Amino acid sequence: MSKGSTADVPVADLTADQAATELARLAVEIEHHDRLYYQQAAPEVSDATYDDLRRRNEAIEARFPDLVRPDSPSRRVGAAPAGGFAEVVHSVPMLSLGNAFDDADVAEFLARIRRFLALEAEAEITLVAEPKIDGLSCSLRYEQGRLVQGATRGDGTRGENVTANVRTIADLPARLRGRGWPDVVEVRGEIFMSRADFQALNKRQEAAGEKIFANPRNAAAGSLRQLDSRITATRPLHFAAYHWGEVSAPLGDTIWAVREKFAAWGFAMNEPTRLCRSLEEALAYYRQMMSDRPTLPGDIDGVVYKVNRLDWQARLGFVSRAPRWAIAHKFPAEQAQTILRAIDIQVGRTGALTPVARLEPVTVGGVVVSNATLHNEDEIKRKDVRVGDTVVVQRAGDVIPQVVSVIMEKRPRKSEEYVFPQKCPVCHSLAVREPGEAVRRCTGGLICPAQAVERLKHFVSRNAFDIEGLGGKHIAAFWQDKLIRTPGDIFRLRDHRDAIVDREGWGEQSADNLLAAIEARRTIALDRFIYALGIRQVGQATARLLARHYATLDQLRQNMAAAADPEGTEYTDLLNIDGVGPALLADLVGFFSEAHNNEILDDLATELEIVPLTPARTADSPIAGKTVVFTGTLETMSRGEAKSRAEALGAKVAGSVSKKTDYVVIGADAGSKARKAAELGVTTLGEADWLALIAS
Ligand code: IVH
Repeated sequence: MSKGSTADVPVADLTADQAATELARLAVEIEHHDRLYYQQAAPEVSDATYDDLRRRNEAIEARFPDLVRPDSPSRRVGAAPAGGFAEVVHSVPMLSLGNAFDDADVAEFLARIRRFLALEAEAEITLVAEPKIDGLSCSLRYEQGRLVQGATRGDGTRGENVTANVRTIADLPARLRGRGWPDVVEVRGEIFMSRADFQALNKRQEAAGEKIFANPRNAAAGSLRQLDSRITATRPLHFAAYHWGEVSAPLGDTIWAVREKFAAWGFAMNEPTRLCRSLEEALAYYRQMMSDRPTLPGDIDGVVYKVNRLDWQARLGFVSRAPRWAIAHKFPAEQAQTILRAIDIQVGRTGALTPVARLEPVTVGGVVVSNATLHNEDEIKRKDVRVGDTVVVQRAGDVIPQVVSVIMEKRPRKSEEYVFPQKCPVCHSLAVREPGEAVRRCTGGLICPAQAVERLKHFVSRNAFDIEGLGGKHIAAFWQDKLIRTPGDIFRLRDHRDAIVDREGWGEQSADNLLAAIEARRTIALDRFIYALGIRQVGQATARLLARHYATLDQLRQNMAAAADPEGTEYTDLLNIDGVGPALLADLVGFFSEAHNNEILDDLATELEIVPLTPARTADSPIAGKTVVFTGTLETMSRGEAKSRAEALGAKVAGSVSKKTDYVVIGADAGSKARKAAELGVTTLGEADWLALIAS
């Protein structure tokens, strides 16, 4: 399609493909004008023409939110040299919540808490039940009762400083009212816009020829992230408090008590909130909220249950990035019907072929959906999905939309069963399915460009190297032009500055920004590094486990190489890590024995400084770095709690006793592990000794 033809199509008439082309074109063009205007003070178009370009970009993004580009001008907001907002590092991370999708999941949540805390079956667990507001979370820091900082969640560790903007929100006090607040307190909650305000705002925007928002959530996010807080001030934003971060003194013994304080200090609260004393009461609240949902002012996508007692919360702690003491009970997904235009196959970084449905764009729960996942070969067969079918798509929260079923009555007469490709659509290598596996994988491995590009995208992604300004599209383009072929190449890009500057859509400033972002990541923690490698089955939690266990990249590599021998101690040592099973072991050993992977690791080692995880305040714990095995039944806590307490203090918890074990903690009715410890001469501790040791 020629450049002129999409540029002339009115936004309302664009197809999804044309929209993608247009967004790409606008990103380049707007960046070009930004550069001329901001850096060279030599604009070549009028302000009105420039505004039209931005407005068109925003209108297309509002119609096709899932086509929004990582390098979109709407995300850049002008060419502000500082890149927009300053960064805020959250001293207490802002975490997410695990999900429950049905009553059984909620029952299991309670049972898990009971097991973990070793509570009697009848013991009452009081839950605080709250609406789960569909907005964006925000952390407000007060020092000596004055609001000193407002920050978005960002990736949970680092967010954006939006202090000037949060000050414009009426639901939160600039100075805490009353008395009794700690010197430092971070109040956390959700920023949102009511449905009525959202509709009124869109009307005003439309009349003024300004950006139309897809849903209240986007409107709230867009309003909060204005570089000019005068604009935020005109937007009807609300804040509801429900949690807290850093505090210089404890706030109370229960959530309920803390809520009362927040309200007294002048915060609007998350309502209606209820105390529930049983599973039945919690589920009754959920059903009530589901039926009240249409009459509530703001969008909610479920309810949240939290353990009211804060001493129990402290014991329960966190798994990965979500607390054990809270869960989100989601409302059922929203659905819509549309036509399936095509089935495309995407090749992932491990070679998995994933079928993607290309749909006639349809609005599902307030968002335009034009792509959805079809999961895998068997799912297509089971649902008998065919090109041309009318299908039901569903979208729940931030989950990828999916094709649920086919409306058979609407099937066109001449439809053909879909045949899943047996070859990789990118490198044409054979694609095979291992016995018992649902996915078909490309066997092209290192020669498959799709896999190479996906691996690189993963390498720079948010939870890995997190290189700002190096999105998927850039990786693909740099790969194409051979600027980046291996992860190490990223760190040699500075030798190709001129080549980057000369690229279409780039320039001095954007090239320098990118190179600076890369330099900022030359030092990296071992867990992020391991995760970035994209080893099959190694997610963030496993990466952290390995980083903690092996401490340095060299030790990790030596151990992985040696673990190939099932007779060796490294093999048993690896299997002994709680959370490592034979399948994961095979993937790890496989990865580290591959010559090409070792070349990449050698190369990266020369470019990077990889630092060990610094376990927070565990260095001086008496069990830091020790290997502990639990056996038998403990009286004061469950096995799960014992394990997480030990890990929190920097110990490794192993499943079986070996010469490397430092302590075996022996509970009632201990069996062979106690004997083995005696044989090997490993120190054994009774429960009381153990408690004394970790208290010391
Ligand atoms: S508590 C450590 N309570 O949901 C727990 N979150 O899926 C912190 N959210 O990022 C979160 N309503 O943006 C909590 N009543 C509520 C909530 C809520 C909405 C959001 C919040 C969080 C996300 C997690």
